[in-house]
Amino acid sequence: MEKAEIQALIREAFAAQKFAYVPYSHFHVGAALRGKNGQVFRGCNIENASYTPTICAERTALFKAVSEGHRDFVRIVIAGRSRELCVPCGVCRQVLREFAPNIEIICLNGAGEERTFTLEELLPHSFGPEYLL
Ligand code: THU
Repeated sequence: MEKAEIQALIREAFAAQKFAYVPYSHFHVGAALRGKNGQVFRGCNIENASYTPTICAERTALFKAVSEGHRDFVRIVIAGRSRELCVPCGVCRQVLREFAPNIEIICLNGAGEERTFTLEELLPHSFGPEYLL
């Protein structure tokens, strides 16, 4: 059942949050990405003393999946700890656009409140691979 599946994915995202390496921002983020075949990929944000190499939780999860041969995704849960819902940054939106233009994006805050977005809502009139054909 889809509702149970989403709840399980939310638990995965919060579990992934525990591994966030965030000595600079102290802003823990966890993500859980569900592939079309049901496989789940977790990710956390990983910061760096040089700042720019920092990677967000969503991209960690997506790159893990793509690097293992997966390219079809159903939804991603992004879980923060703060009051605001943890919405993906602009870079992550563009990276999701590359591999998963139709993905469902479920954003949560630390209280577990959630809101679901389409990528089209978050990144309208986006540039993608088909523009280069
Ligand atoms: N971050 C994410 O991992 N995902 C988001 O959706 C927003 C921002 C990370 C990047 C950085 O480690 C910290 O949160 C503060 O920006």
